[in-house]
Amino acid sequence: MGMKWVGVGSVYLLVVGLIVGGLRLCNGGISSSYARRSNDISADMPLNSDVFAVPHGYNAPQQVHITQGDQEGKAVIVSWVTPDEPGSNEVVYWAANSELKKRSMGTVVTYKYYNYSSGYIHHCTIKNLQYDTKYFYEIGIGNTTRQFWFTTPPEVGPDVPYTFGLIGDLGQTFDSNRTLTHYELNPAKGQAVLFVGDLSYADAYPLHDNNRWDSWGRFVERSVAYQPWIWSAGNHEIDFLPDYGETEPFKPYVHRYFVPYKASKSTSPLWYSIKRASAYIIVMSSYSAYGMYTPQYKWLISELPKVNRSETPWLIVVMHCPLYSSYVHHYMEGETMRVMYEQYFVKYKVDVVLSGHVHAYERTGRVSNIAYNIENGLCTPSNDGSAPVYITIGDGGNQEGLLYEMVEPQPKYSAYREPSFGHAEMNNRRT
Ligand SMILES: [Fe+2]
Repeated sequence: MGMKWVGVGSVYLLVVGLIVGGLRLCNGGISSSYARRSNDISADMPLNSDVFAVPHGYNAPQQVHITQGDQEGKAVIVSWVTPDEPGSNEVVYWAANSELKKRSMGTVVTYKYYNYSSGYIHHCTIKNLQYDTKYFYEIGIGNTTRQFWFTTPPEVGPDVPYTFGLIGDLGQTFDSNRTLTHYELNPAKGQAVLFVGDLSYADAYPLHDNNRWDSWGRFVERSVAYQPWIWSAGNHEIDFLPDYGETEPFKPYVHRYFVPYKASKSTSPLWYSIKRASAYIIVMSSYSAYGMYTPQYKWLISELPKVNRSETPWLIVVMHCPLYSSYVHHYMEGETMRVMYEQYFVKYKVDVVLSGHVHAYERTGRVSNIAYNIENGLCTPSNDGSAPVYITIGDGGNQEGLLYEMVEPQPKYSAYREPSFGHAEMNNRRT
């Protein structure tokens, strides 16, 4: 099978060729001659920007977003916020080819973060959907009812073509808006987004101003209300502020972004798995305990043997912090997790590990560094046909800007690297 990454314009060019089925190693070692270089630390868009506009009408639903709601792709979690009062938890939905309207009832949660009180955050799981079917859905009451639509994935199976968008470290700058627009206009038409962490960057504001979580929710609604984004948490989701009494890590994130973690027998929304089309996707948490005997470790060790490669030949791991990165910033931050988990990724022949965190693009060859033990000195990554390709795609466009400084010379494990804002598309269509 072939995998193709689709470029989306000059600044956003991320064209790489990759053969992952035939053990052909990519040791190009290319640092792109093109890299966006300017005083381009991009500012956040002001709160009165049109992309943050509040929908008209009293208590109108806002920040609408969907994600997969079960492990097989026959359920969708619809989430939204009502600002003034709880309103209705109900989603009305119907297949595009049917007049029959169905209803599903959700729940509502709120949270406080220091001096911020959230709106009413609704989560409703719609179950027993048909595969490969367009559905309309409505939320809200009376004249503030809002209507959206989504298309369910095809039935899980080995030869099911599917296209994922890959976006990471998005933030809410003018560049973030350009990245999202490029994604929306890309003719490759991503059908779902694998989001590699760091969503709103609200924590850049004093007291982690959670109003910036709300503005981010309104900003991305134009995509995520219509196709599922598969979430993973980054360091900007931790929101740990003990001096102000905020000692519960990930509080805003886990209240706002429900995921179907229980369907994969996970005990935390920060790590879970789903199947979608021909892919088995495992989401991990770089910022939760992952050492031996921890809940995340135990879950992953029991999860990997469950993957049936004749059903889902593509095994994808998503974690925010890259295990291989040859940019200077954040260098080796993922090393302890690599030491812990790389052996399992090789053993179970993970195809690709997707990460963000580093605000640039990089792709490795199939390499591993599992031969090393504390005495033998074999500490250089080597070509390994059972190892994943590692992709860093943390270049969505947030306010921290791009990272240009690279480890030189380019390590052999690094196949391609380029510091430009953008996103990627990943598909299993034969080319
Ligand atoms: Fe990060």
